Amino acid sequence: MQNLKITGSRKNILQSEYYSVIADLLNLPEIQKLKNYQHHITTTRFQHCLNVSYYHYKICRFFKLDANSGARAGLLHDLYFYDTKHYIRQKPAVKHCKYHPQTALHNAEKIIKLNDLERDMIYNHMWPLTPEKPKYAETYLITFVDKYCAMIEFILPQPKNFIHFFKKYRHRKLQKNY
Ligand SMILES: [Fe+2]
Ligand SMILES: [Fe+2]
Repeated sequence: MQNLKITGSRKNILQSEYYSVIADLLNLPEIQKLKNYQHHITTTRFQHCLNVSYYHYKICRFFKLDANSGARAGLLHDLYFYDTKHYIRQKPAVKHCKYHPQTALHNAEKIIKLNDLERDMIYNHMWPLTPEKPKYAETYLITFVDKYCAMIEFILPQPKNFIHFFKKYRHRKLQKNY
């Protein structure tokens, strides 16, 4: 059994209702493959997707929305397999922020049957950068949860990451000035 942790939470999700909603997806090789990709500087894409899935599930439940679809779409919302940094360097004209939801949806549909709500959440999780407006309240929510998770993943794990990032940034700036 996997050791699953949620950033910013001490809850053992293996014994939760949430886990039963996503258990069938977790062991798919495509989802496991996300562990090989760095995401938001300090975490993996797998951990980020798991975080979005978990917090989105909790908030959807609180508002009596479709929490199960919210959890599943959260786990699939960044299902793409390339290094974001290299992609941006190689194809600067192609906006990663705008197009990766389409790639994620395409990849998700190859491995699992999605409902319309899950499709909308994956496709529009970067709204307002994506061309279409979200159709559901759950989709608006995931846009916030995604950003919230990106923030806690960067700040919470170790304050030293934060310091290291700014030292690196300052160093680069100093080099440019010479
Ligand atoms: Fe994304
Ligand atoms: Fe994301």
